[in-house]
Amino acid sequence: MNYTPSPNRYESMKYNRCGNSGLLLPAISLGLWHNFGSVDVFENGRAIVRRAFDRGITHFDLANNYGPAPGSAEENFGSILKKDFPGWLRDELIISSKAGYLMWPGPYGEWGSRKYLLSSLNQSLQRMGLEYVDIFYSHRPDPNTPLEETMMALDTAVKQGKALYAGISNYNAEEAQRAIEILTSLGTPCLIHQPKYSMFERWVEDGLLEVLEKYGVGCIPFSPLAQGMLTDKYLKGIPENSRAAKSHGFLKVDEITQDKLTTIQKLNQVATDRNQSLAQMALSWLLKDKRITSVLIGASSVQQLDNNIDSLLNTDYTSDELNNIEIILKV
Ligand SMILES: NC(=O)c1ccc[n+]([C@@H]2O[C@H](COP(=O)([O-])OP(=O)(O)OC[C@H]3O[C@@H](n4cnc5c(N)ncnc54)[C@H](OP(=O)(O)O)[C@@H]3O)[C@@H](O)[C@H]2O)c1
Repeated sequence: MNYTPSPNRYESMKYNRCGNSGLLLPAISLGLWHNFGSVDVFENGRAIVRRAFDRGITHFDLANNYGPAPGSAEENFGSILKKDFPGWLRDELIISSKAGYLMWPGPYGEWGSRKYLLSSLNQSLQRMGLEYVDIFYSHRPDPNTPLEETMMALDTAVKQGKALYAGISNYNAEEAQRAIEILTSLGTPCLIHQPKYSMFERWVEDGLLEVLEKYGVGCIPFSPLAQGMLTDKYLKGIPENSRAAKSHGFLKVDEITQDKLTTIQKLNQVATDRNQSLAQMALSWLLKDKRITSVLIGASSVQQLDNNIDSLLNTDYTSDELNNIEIILKV
């Protein structure tokens, strides 16, 4: 199964500038948190990555702990790169990794110390078979490590050439502002922030987006489909093989409450009236805000990936549609 990337791969994807940087990111990026671990079917993940690249997705997001088992998503992605993406294609890819959550036992295997971040980056590079990642993130703020130390570790990674850009994830507005200012003072601008943001989780609207805009930092929301809840998949029960049905999935069945399902049903009707799937509406609803650089989706099949990319066919909203969505979400 040799892979030749589609020669048309750059024809229909939209690319957005990441904050004030020189970097363009695809409006839709692919994350490898679920579906790419050692518990998953390798060829399925490989087919998703190939299809993503063929449709113009240049950005693939990883972290040290993605799997399960932790580390196995980076190992599998490394194998896909080796099999399907010969060296010259590396310059067409934006690959990110992160460190912040528990990765190895002992006092140096999580949070935000210089020791952990730089050791973890070395491990990630080894697992993926890469000389550098494009973006290296502090995965979460560490209340017990000086922010200066964590940011200096990102700065070192960039100055060593092991990362091209620095990013932060899960930092609130105040923490983000401080991190951005420290990175600027070190001469390594903060490229991007990766927060959780979807129709169901809107904390970023309460100050964070303003900070990012003010400092010219990009924004790439993760779990834009609320792990699959913002699709029609749970309307008729919990499908076998869905994330909620899997013991290692992060979406728990008790999060899919009757109230949520009523909201999802109503949103699904608005999407149908727009000739979109609910997944497509959930993504285009985020992308209508020009402060959003890219939405970071997950997919367990090529069909889901295709469906999600087609959200770009309709990103315009009437004020009636927007009002209607607000009313549905407020109940
Ligand atoms: N920085 C952080 O702390 C952090 C945390 C979490 C995630 N992330 C990043 O964000 C990425 C995306 O997160 P996520 O996977 O939670 O994103 P998501 O897009 O909200 O959820 C993806 C899941 O929704 C379902 N799905 C996707 N498209 C669908 C469609 N068209 N129709 C029906 N179901 C569909 C699939 O689940 P099924 O398995 O049920 O089919 C898929 O795995 C991760 O891979 C990771 O890179 C970062």
